Amino acid sequence: MGRTDERTYVRQYVSLIHKDKNMKKIQEADLVGKKVLVRADFNVGVVDGKIAEKFKLEACKETVEHLLSQSETKVALCSHLGRPEGQFNEKFSLKQLASELENILTKKIVFVPEISVEKIQAALEDLNEGEILLLENVRFYPGEEKNDSEFSQQLAGAFDVFVNEAFSVCHRDQSSVTGVTKFLPSYAGFWLQKEVENLDRVLDNPAKPAVAIIGGAKIETKLPLIEKFEKIYDQVLVGGMVANEALDQKKTFSDKVILPQDFEGERLDIGPKTLEQFKQIVATAKTIVWNGPLGKFEEKPFDRATREILQMVAESQAFTLVGGGESVQVLEENGWLDKISFVSTGGGAMLEYLSGNPMPGIEGLK
Ligand code: 3PG
Repeated sequence: MGRTDERTYVRQYVSLIHKDKNMKKIQEADLVGKKVLVRADFNVGVVDGKIAEKFKLEACKETVEHLLSQSETKVALCSHLGRPEGQFNEKFSLKQLASELENILTKKIVFVPEISVEKIQAALEDLNEGEILLLENVRFYPGEEKNDSEFSQQLAGAFDVFVNEAFSVCHRDQSSVTGVTKFLPSYAGFWLQKEVENLDRVLDNPAKPAVAIIGGAKIETKLPLIEKFEKIYDQVLVGGMVANEALDQKKTFSDKVILPQDFEGERLDIGPKTLEQFKQIVATAKTIVWNGPLGKFEEKPFDRATREILQMVAESQAFTLVGGGESVQVLEENGWLDKISFVSTGGGAMLEYLSGNPMPGIEGLK
């Protein structure tokens, strides 16, 4: 087998694993009287105390409500925030999310500033009915990203059950994602289940014409996705830095893949002709999958294509699935979140899943 064949074979094999629906689900868990650790994804932007991507905080609500509806179940939430590189950094403390989480979950949040079995055990003992623990940022500990067994035990030791509700970190092999599953019976939360169902839907059964829109940066991470959708979709529209890199590197694709024919500024946004062409294609689509902005959308006027096409996607009757921090931010700012059939919390994780790459966090639940 040649190297390319081998890679294709591995991808196909991994895709088959994804289709294996053996992921254990929270509905199957015996939760009565249990102490439950929930891995959420609270990796949101915080500027001057203002929280972007609030929908990421909301994603765990159904699971938390389900857990609290069980008799004498105690719940603790854990997450990372940013990339603090294994040490405490106030800027990335989860404490600053406590009050917004209280609003969203309508429960009192008790913050636990240190992750150790003893501290968590003590906090669980003091916890009153209906209150929830929020643990400090797991990435303040070097063991988290190394998936260190000792740290996984400190995190898991006070609990009986683990629920993974953080699809967006399921591509990471880290203590709070996979490490703890070695020590606790582990289940997929409701949100994680929805992510997998919706991503499988756009992969396996897309209504045609099906269109993928791929933008953002880093061609090496987006190329597998472009190639994947080139095979299974009718059209792949490529913008953003990825398009510039593809053009510079003289990448060749079939006619299904459309790269920009003109630009705004120093290739900071797709130009008017490309925008018109993209709009015509989006207008007839029955399935639209989007990851990554089409231009330097944080700098006006180079946000134009991203905003105008996102608005079309929001107003479209097609089945629409959007993921990736920046696109989601635009949706949130414009109040369009509810207009998308499914908004994925995953940026990198969505890419990995759709490309058919291994998802250790999901494997750990089987
Ligand atoms: C995300 O925001 O995509 C996830 O929280 C993953 O974050 P990470 O890339 O820092 O692991």
